Amino acid sequence: MPADPTPAHRFRKFATVVGLCAAVGVMTTAVSYSVTLYRLFCQATGAYGTTERAASNDTAQSARTVTVSFNTDVAPGMPWRFVPVQNSVTVHLGQEALVFFEAENLSDHAIVGHATFNVTPDRVGLYFKKIQCFCFTEERLGPHQKVEMPVDFFVDPRMESDVDAKVVHDITLSYTFFESRQPEGAQDLARFANRPPDPVAGHTLFATVCSACHAPDHNKVGPMLDGVMGRRAGSVPGYPYSTALAQAGITWDADTLDKWLAGPQHFIPGAEMPFSLPDAVRRRDVIAYLATLKPTHTAGQATPPDNPHPG
Ligand code: HEC
Repeated sequence: MPADPTPAHRFRKFATVVGLCAAVGVMTTAVSYSVTLYRLFCQATGAYGTTERAASNDTAQSARTVTVSFNTDVAPGMPWRFVPVQNSVTVHLGQEALVFFEAENLSDHAIVGHATFNVTPDRVGLYFKKIQCFCFTEERLGPHQKVEMPVDFFVDPRMESDVDAKVVHDITLSYTFFESRQPEGAQDLARFANRPPDPVAGHTLFATVCSACHAPDHNKVGPMLDGVMGRRAGSVPGYPYSTALAQAGITWDADTLDKWLAGPQHFIPGAEMPFSLPDAVRRRDVIAYLATLKPTHTAGQATPPDNPHPG
């Protein structure tokens, strides 16, 4: 494989990356309007404008997409900082998505919070299903503690057969944290930081953020990732790697992948992946998922997979 891709190749990759960044920029500006009406979800599950809780997503995915934007607020006087990690995501109806919110207790004492949420437009609230959400329980944050909290959701494809809802393309999910009046049964938000790596959450995260550029079994904007664990960096035949990555001389394992995902250009100066995952818990999840992707015959292997289970 040539270390230096052809100019045409490189331009195409560059153009796609620029296009994606422009799309993300547009999405970011599209969420600057604010939603003023919040309803108490946990007391009114399934009412208009609030969302339903789902045990799991067993619906089929549809070709139709919607863009979901995120909005956050804290009640006046509550000393928490609370922000969405991503401004918006675009998902297929029926596709499970994993998004994150960051909360930080700015005070010197533990505080129990309770999140209420609201979906607009009202008429899609019935079709917005959450599988995992910090808003289901009272949540405690220790003094000056900071966590990233996941929300796992999908938009029910039945929305397409609802005359009022089917015209909607943009959905806004808004959260407000209030100080809890019933702090006794609160859960510690630290559970989101201290849990073991979860390949299922990693898969959902991959589908939400990596799949814009990567597929397991073919090259897209980024190289295919089947068998990436144990593979030499920059070795998929036919993919136009940067010279920096092609000549990095490293092998992907849990440690090198973690450094790469934390800051590709910092880890390998000159590498061209325009994306990073600052949160260590999310990196561990996605690496646990990457480890489940078995090699296919087209991927370059650093070593033959003759001893996959040492010890
Ligand atoms: C905006 C596009 C984009 C996104 C999003 C993206 N990547 Fe990449 N990725 C790339 C590009 C481009 C390269 C090749 C970089 C180079 O040649 O220097 C790459 C390279 C890689 C490599 C090195 C593979 C090899 O063959 O050496 C890994 C591993 C990787 N990405 C994992 C991920 C994971 C996991 C995610 C999601 C958390 C992700 N990427 C998100 C574009 C992206």
